[in-house]
Amino acid sequence: MNTSQPRYRVDGVVKVAGMAQFGADFPLDRMTYGVLILSTISKGRIVRMDTEAASKLPGVLKIITPANALALPNKGVHPEMKDAAAIPMLQDDLIHYNGQAIGVAIAESLQVAQEAAAMVRVDYQSEPAQCDFMTGLNSCHPPKDGGDTANYSRGDIVAELQRSDVVLDETYSTPMQNHNPMEPHATIACWKGNRLLLYEPSQWIMFVRTCMATWFGIPEENIRVLGPYVGGGFGGKGAVWSHAVIAVMAAKMLDRPVKISLDRRQMFTITASRPRTLQRVTLGATGTGTLLAVRNDVKIHCSPLVELVEDAGTVSQSLYRADANATSHRMVSLDVGPTWVMRAPGEATGSFALETAMDELACRLKIDPMELRLTNYADRDATNGKPYSQKLLRDCYLRGAERFGWKNRDPQPRTMRDGHSLIGMGMATATYPAYRAASSAIVRLNPDGSVFVGSATHEIGTGTYTVLAQIASEVLGIDLSRIEVKTGDTNLPPAIYSGGSLTVATVGSAVHAAAEQVKQQVVQSAIRDQRSPLHLAAPEEIVAIEGQLRRAASDAGESYTAILARSGGRPVEATVEAKPDKAIDEYSTRSFGAVFAEIAVDPDFYSVHVRRFTGVYDVGRLINQKAGINQLSGGAIWGISMALYEGAVMDTRYGRIVNSDLSEYHLPVNADIGEMDISVLDVPDFKFNPMGARGVGELGIPGAAAAVVNAVFHATGKRIRDLPITIDKLLADA
Ligand code: MOS
Repeated sequence: MNTSQPRYRVDGVVKVAGMAQFGADFPLDRMTYGVLILSTISKGRIVRMDTEAASKLPGVLKIITPANALALPNKGVHPEMKDAAAIPMLQDDLIHYNGQAIGVAIAESLQVAQEAAAMVRVDYQSEPAQCDFMTGLNSCHPPKDGGDTANYSRGDIVAELQRSDVVLDETYSTPMQNHNPMEPHATIACWKGNRLLLYEPSQWIMFVRTCMATWFGIPEENIRVLGPYVGGGFGGKGAVWSHAVIAVMAAKMLDRPVKISLDRRQMFTITASRPRTLQRVTLGATGTGTLLAVRNDVKIHCSPLVELVEDAGTVSQSLYRADANATSHRMVSLDVGPTWVMRAPGEATGSFALETAMDELACRLKIDPMELRLTNYADRDATNGKPYSQKLLRDCYLRGAERFGWKNRDPQPRTMRDGHSLIGMGMATATYPAYRAASSAIVRLNPDGSVFVGSATHEIGTGTYTVLAQIASEVLGIDLSRIEVKTGDTNLPPAIYSGGSLTVATVGSAVHAAAEQVKQQVVQSAIRDQRSPLHLAAPEEIVAIEGQLRRAASDAGESYTAILARSGGRPVEATVEAKPDKAIDEYSTRSFGAVFAEIAVDPDFYSVHVRRFTGVYDVGRLINQKAGINQLSGGAIWGISMALYEGAVMDTRYGRIVNSDLSEYHLPVNADIGEMDISVLDVPDFKFNPMGARGVGELGIPGAAAAVVNAVFHATGKRIRDLPITIDKLLADA
């Protein structure tokens, strides 16, 4: 297979031309518009909702509240979906958090619905709420799912810490963060009798279908979910939130299509957040830098509705070789909105703490931070004793250091300058698990030589359409321009969640296998046919190239169209469910990288600018150089953002997020980001899957924040352990 092609996106033109239809972009006849009504207290019950004035507004069709909402035959969550968030569905009068959905105004236009929603008056019976993480720390509890997540250990941590020459013991904290995809969540629901059509930009349309079938008590086959384009998800679109179930309910009550599109503020409370974390990291080492003990005790906030474990401790269990290891996770239950997975859950926050602690240890020991990491390099995964399917992290360190110019760094903090600016250089390790799951795809070769590829997976902005087309194109030897890919439709062969950076490895493997089957069917048909120049050829000597099957040795061959025409002019197709094979169980599967940041700090104002960022990663084979590098850059920028900008601020008196918009919740723009030098080793990992490709997207985040934090220390001599590093924190001990 050709390696790493920098292909433009096959869906690039429709997107740039504004022709791609995202969640809210489907005009349906007799469409109505819903605007959610949100709670303004954080705990208690609704005593009364006065909807009278709102109902009389011309154009208003219905105000739905818990008092008149459709009673769902099944509420809560499906037994098989116990990890999913329990979402408010207007089935009771309970308030669990501020900004919860407590009703919806449905009208003939969005504007009327907005006005009506604002006119509804609510009387509450308020109860004392606990929204302060620092106070809540005192009453934390082990995660309900228990097991290794609650407490993990190997070796004798106490003894190893005792015999360590140096013990570092520091606490690191990360703020609540929110998914802010460019496209906000939106749902359009349309019933025809007891059949439901749903437009939902989702990372998991099959899950949306299962949820709705369960809640509304109808067979899954009666539901079709469509979401052909998704404007970013980051985990937030991997669940079903209140607006979706309320849209389906309202459409049923009104017998008209209903569209509910969240505005940016609602995104912060109707969907979910990455939880706050507090990590106490303890490292014990010999005087020459051999780690003897690694410990991380993690506290995570959660909501009454879902106990999502941001397992920040996991990364410290295996990243470095250390005989003794202990991690724990404890939940801090607060009366706030749901928490949920967000890009590189656990790894992003855990890597920040561990990789900052490693930098601190290197400083204490006066060892180069990269040298410290090489000294403690782990060839096996200590949690299960398995070797990695492929681990080329050493090459990433060395190549990254070379590209970045790490040897030019003066180890002494506050010594490097450029004019008036203090210059800092920091580095860290990136790691993220390589996941693969079961999924299906159909590949159909048409008599005209064009190809259809379909799977109920999703294009969440990562390049799925392009990569799946590339895989089919390469197996069949048919030009990319002749390949049509469809995703985001539950009528297509089922696929799993587009999360955990597993889509290429998972759905790509299904497309690869289906395309291979199609090719073999055509090969067999040609071999059997006396009229074919391939008659009686051995299958393994046949290659697919330029829309033809040819004998590798000679040039004898013929086109797919000719073979299909002779055998009746019918399409040839295969639907395959691909699963990871047993052989993979012998290995631990992870991707790795080395990241380096150079920052400039104004010594008077302490403003920080990331001037250069170098990342070198091992992701196996990178199928699309352009989309893949783009994903890793996006991830690294998210890490930079985590270090310097992002964080939701809670007013703990009211449980309200005070910066729930994009002017106050700062996301980086081009002006914030310097030169990004992102590259991959591009060595296929065939133990992992037939394409040798592991996941890409999330790997970009872990380590990136720590590299920046470490660079800030190097520039200023100030060690900030609480993200984001804002100017006030740097000035505080100036
Ligand atoms: Mo992601 S947080 O695996 O969508």
